[in-house]
Amino acid sequence: MVRTVRRAVPADTDDCVAIVRGLPEYFTEDVPDKIATELREHPAWVAEDGVGLGGFVIVDRRSVQAAEILWLAVAGPLRGNGVGTRLLEHIVRELSAGGLRVLEVKTLDACAGYPPYVATRAFWERRGFVQVDTIDPLPDWPLGNPAAIYIAAIGITR
Ligand SMILES: CC(C)(COP(=O)(O)OP(=O)(O)OC[C@H]1O[C@@H](n2cnc3c(N)ncnc32)[C@H](O)[C@@H]1OP(=O)(O)O)[C@@H](O)C(=O)NCCC(=O)NCCS
Repeated sequence: MVRTVRRAVPADTDDCVAIVRGLPEYFTEDVPDKIATELREHPAWVAEDGVGLGGFVIVDRRSVQAAEILWLAVAGPLRGNGVGTRLLEHIVRELSAGGLRVLEVKTLDACAGYPPYVATRAFWERRGFVQVDTIDPLPDWPLGNPAAIYIAAIGITR
C-alpha cells in the first residue's frame, strides 16, 4: 500500500509513463509524451508503495487561488485502493496552505457513452467535484471527446 506521497523528480518520469501506458482504455497514444513534458513544466507528486510508484498527479497552478489537475493516474492493479484519494488529499492540503481556493479537472463527459470513464467521474464526484459545464469540442482535445468540466471549492471565494 501507499507509504508516502512526495514531489516528483525527473527520475520518476519513466515510471509515470509506464503507469499511463498500462491504462490504454483511459489514455490515447499521445499522452505518454505529454506527461513526460508536463512533469518537467508543472508541479507533480507521486505515491510510493515501497516497491515502486503507485500513481501520480500533475497540477497547473493558474494563480495563487486557482489550479487545474492536468493528470491523475493510478497503476491499473492498484486502482480502487485509495491511492488516487491519497494523492488528491495530499495536493489539496499542500496547495490550500498556499492559498488555493478552487480546483478544476476536465474529464470525458457522460454524453460520450464510454463506460471506463463512469468510474472516473464517480471518483471526482465522490471527492467533492461538481460538474459545471460540458464543452464539445474542447480546443486541443480530439474530436468526439466531449469534456466535462468539474470544479471543487477548496475555500471561500467571496
Ligand atoms: C480515477 C483514479 C485516479 C482514481 O484513483 P483510485 O485510487 O482508483 O481511487 P480511490 O480508490 O482512491 O477511490 C475510488 C472512489 O471512486 C468510487 N468509484 C469507483 N468506481 C465507481 C463506480 N463505478 N461507481 C461509483 N463509485 C465508484 C469508489 O467507490 C471510491 O469512492 P469511496 O471511497 O468514497 O467509495 C484511478 O482509478 C485511475 O487512474 N483511473 C484511470 C485513469 C483516469 O481516469 N484518470 C483520471 C482522468 S480525469
